[in-house]
Amino acid sequence: MLGTATASYQVEGSTDADGRGPSIWDTFAARPGAIADGSDGSVACGSYLHLDQDLALLEQSGVGLYRFSIAWPRVMPDGHGPVNSAGLDYYERLVDGLVQRGITPAPTLYHWDLPQPLEDAGGWLNRETALRLTDYALAVHDRLGDRVRLWATLNEPWCSAFLGYAAGVHAPGRREGLGAYAAAHHLLLGHALAAAAIREHDAEADVGIVLNLTVVHPDGPGTQGPAAFVDAVQNRLWVDALVDGTYPADLLEVAAPLRDPGVVHPGDLEAIRGSACWLGVNYYTPMRVAAPTQTGPAVGQDAAAFPGAPALSFRPRKPRTEMGWEVDPSGLEDLLAGLSRRAPSLPLRVTENGAAYADQARAADGSVDDPDRVAYLKAHLAAVQRVRAAGADVRAYIAWTLLDNFEWAEGYTKKFGLVEVEPGTLRRIPKRSFHWYAETARAAARQ
Ligand code: FCB
Repeated sequence: MLGTATASYQVEGSTDADGRGPSIWDTFAARPGAIADGSDGSVACGSYLHLDQDLALLEQSGVGLYRFSIAWPRVMPDGHGPVNSAGLDYYERLVDGLVQRGITPAPTLYHWDLPQPLEDAGGWLNRETALRLTDYALAVHDRLGDRVRLWATLNEPWCSAFLGYAAGVHAPGRREGLGAYAAAHHLLLGHALAAAAIREHDAEADVGIVLNLTVVHPDGPGTQGPAAFVDAVQNRLWVDALVDGTYPADLLEVAAPLRDPGVVHPGDLEAIRGSACWLGVNYYTPMRVAAPTQTGPAVGQDAAAFPGAPALSFRPRKPRTEMGWEVDPSGLEDLLAGLSRRAPSLPLRVTENGAAYADQARAADGSVDDPDRVAYLKAHLAAVQRVRAAGADVRAYIAWTLLDNFEWAEGYTKKFGLVEVEPGTLRRIPKRSFHWYAETARAAARQ
């Protein structure tokens, strides 16, 4: 099953419409210097206003599945309390439009746009936020649960915890050092409670979580230890908790909040264990951990995002995308093979994979000719096929992303889309990769 993905704040725009409240990304983007081009998501791709265009594109794209996210501040503008029914109408129209076209809706409940009032009360450092996620999840399920079966609770909680509360390069832009481990725990707890609550109402619901896992390689003498630490924070923290109900012993030595009974209450880890019916894997690049250097970090690969880590740097090899991320399809193959050995009964889905390129070349009709993106997707899809042939239960491949959109701290400067969005007019112009992907998706559906 092939799909494409987007996320609410990155594509919707209309951030004041129909009772939506502010999110931490509205607040963060307004902070001078936070976003590379000084932009924000107030217009984005205009997907909130142009739903019919997006549905037509999805139909044209031949995909069997569309992964999108729901904006918590549209549904519960205060983060708790009364449901804003108007905010759910958009998602209902989206889900109905998908179902009519034979496309499986795959919503993610939380792709980083926390209602600002919850951040004002402590955000993910506050255990209460995990409980509020359950209320919100049930409100969404109440409206859409009869038409949606495949749910993801969180997208990349590593980013929420460590880019948001340690490195400070994502919303809410805080630098709490080791405190960010409490955010990580509350995110996992929130996932587990929300997933259990949905299942209690709906035995058919297939509820998973989406993680940005990757392969971590030591690069050079003395880098084994630092690489093991990075692996613990990036991968094992999440997978061990979800599969075994434990936190990695080596990480516990450093990450004090994870051994604090005031943070990790009795019963929390039991609730987290087994709470995901499926695992979404977002993969873009491997990580190579090297000795500290003077050269700047690649985006998202900042030592500050690994609180308590020994001194280290990241050294991505070539070729690299516009994000500075090394291209290595074998990393995806190794990652999926490893996960399927680690948790053989847990179905996997590649919930994001894709590449940012400058997209300067034009075809005769003026549209983007993006052979690099086609090559990237093709090579990664082939890696997924190999691992499936070897027996791994990988049920979907979902390309990031349908539309060029608001790429978080990078603003509109990094383009991952299969479709270009013309600034100003918001006209959608399919790239060569869109047409290639459509053919590939249709062929996959026929098999
Ligand atoms: C992932 C995010 C997604 C997108 C891609 C490029 O970390 O989940 O929203 O920004 O990176």
